[in-house]
Amino acid sequence: MSQSLAGRIAVITGGASGMGAATVREFVAAGATVTLIDRNAEGAQQVADETGTTAIIGDVSDADFCTQTIDQVAATHGRLDVLVNCAGTIHRAAAAGTSDDQWRNIMAVNVDAVFYLSRAAVRHMVAQQSGAIINFGSIWGERGAAGVLAYCATKGAVHQITRAMALDHADQGIRINAVAPGEVETPMISTGRTTTPSAADLQALADATIPIKRLAQPEEIARVVRFLASDEASYLTGAIIPVDGGYTAQ
Ligand SMILES: NC(=O)c1ccc[n+]([C@@H]2O[C@H](COP(=O)([O-])OP(=O)(O)OC[C@H]3O[C@@H](n4cnc5c(N)ncnc54)[C@H](O)[C@@H]3O)[C@@H](O)[C@H]2O)c1
Repeated sequence: MSQSLAGRIAVITGGASGMGAATVREFVAAGATVTLIDRNAEGAQQVADETGTTAIIGDVSDADFCTQTIDQVAATHGRLDVLVNCAGTIHRAAAAGTSDDQWRNIMAVNVDAVFYLSRAAVRHMVAQQSGAIINFGSIWGERGAAGVLAYCATKGAVHQITRAMALDHADQGIRINAVAPGEVETPMISTGRTTTPSAADLQALADATIPIKRLAQPEEIARVVRFLASDEASYLTGAIIPVDGGYTAQ
């Protein structure tokens, strides 16, 4: 593993689980100093203890919490180099099965939080004239899918936040990109379903929809996030990188 993030100060949301936890591990191995944010206190502390990072527990849909946490990390370390917006949730329903509260909740977690955290982070990055933000989009931010209306809407918004914000800061040394994963083997695969899919169910899904014919492992996405955060990606901004086993190539 190269030390491509040596000395970088990074904040990663959703670090207690799935791709967020994999990104924490990947960043630490690459030399970054990481603060992870998650509302799952037990999971966040476990990942922090395992990786020697700092966990801050809270809800990223709370604007004040987001601003205070970013300012606190920047004050502690004297700078902020990387923000990874990975925390997210899913609601599996069409419009008729989506209540006002469910709609507002997924918009708050998947969209509002990306705005609050990124706004707070770029204030520091503009002052430094350097920084990188990596957002977690989805194949469903580019393509429609049945039965996940609100989720598709939120990930489309994340892709557009990525593009628009990248343009606002392109000449300030700040790069803003997104990864758009396909189906990844994390706890979210079961979130919002009445039954947990079996290994055979997941293989059938992969055979039917994914050219590579398997789900991704979280580490396969985390490696791309690490690349986007590093100077190796110095000419990449405003890009939505599909990490989807060929799904959107179809
Ligand atoms: N799993 C997939 O197939 C897949 C595919 C494409 C995109 N994504 C996206 O990737 C990201 C990571 O997903 P994952 O599969 O690793 O999910 P996950 O459920 O394993 O992890 C999500 C993490 O976000 C945290 N979180 C959720 N709401 C929060 C809030 N309000 N405040 C603070 N923390 C909160 C959870 O506690 C959890 O630790 C999400 O944005 C998701 O939408 C997932």
